[in-house]
Amino acid sequence: MAMLAQGPYTRKDFNISGLKGISDTTIQVHLGLYAGYVANTNTLNERIRDLTQQGKIGSPDWAELTRRLGFEYDGMILHEYYFSQLKPGGTPMPTSGALVDHLNKSFGSVDAWQSDFKGVGGMRGVGWAILFQDPSTGWLSNHWITLHQDGVPAGYKPILILDVWEHAFLLDYKPAERPKYIQAFLDNVDWGVVEGRLLK
Ligand SMILES: [Fe+2]
Repeated sequence: MAMLAQGPYTRKDFNISGLKGISDTTIQVHLGLYAGYVANTNTLNERIRDLTQQGKIGSPDWAELTRRLGFEYDGMILHEYYFSQLKPGGTPMPTSGALVDHLNKSFGSVDAWQSDFKGVGGMRGVGWAILFQDPSTGWLSNHWITLHQDGVPAGYKPILILDVWEHAFLLDYKPAERPKYIQAFLDNVDWGVVEGRLLK
């Protein structure tokens, strides 16, 4: 049996505590789930490579592992976007500049964007609400992603990422209190990080 090599991905460190309305326990549990996505991404890469080298391309094992790649990769990547934009108490949302200009152009107003974004985050079912930017036009649009890989517009840049899987808030809020969690999330956003993600 081939030796398993160290996978290409390393878990990133996120030093997050003292968020407003999202407990440290929730963040610690959530970071543990994120670590699982990194580990699974590495394991899938290693096992697929081994099966490929053994001439088992097309086998049921190879196919099943290959089908899981998108879920694990996007689970890893989207959580990195999620955690890296959080800061205790957040920062004031800018009132001018590139982010506001893009939101005004794409949604009519910042308030209209935020209402739509909250609405997407509050949709029934678990998933993600993500503000994406189209790299070819700069246009911003809100998207609902159920499974991590399902519904992501190819090649678009994630700008603001809201995790509304229940693990993200159920230790702090009841299932029906998701709007409170969404508001807490927005209250802890570092808008400088978000604006910095915009494509130039
Ligand atoms: Fe999550």
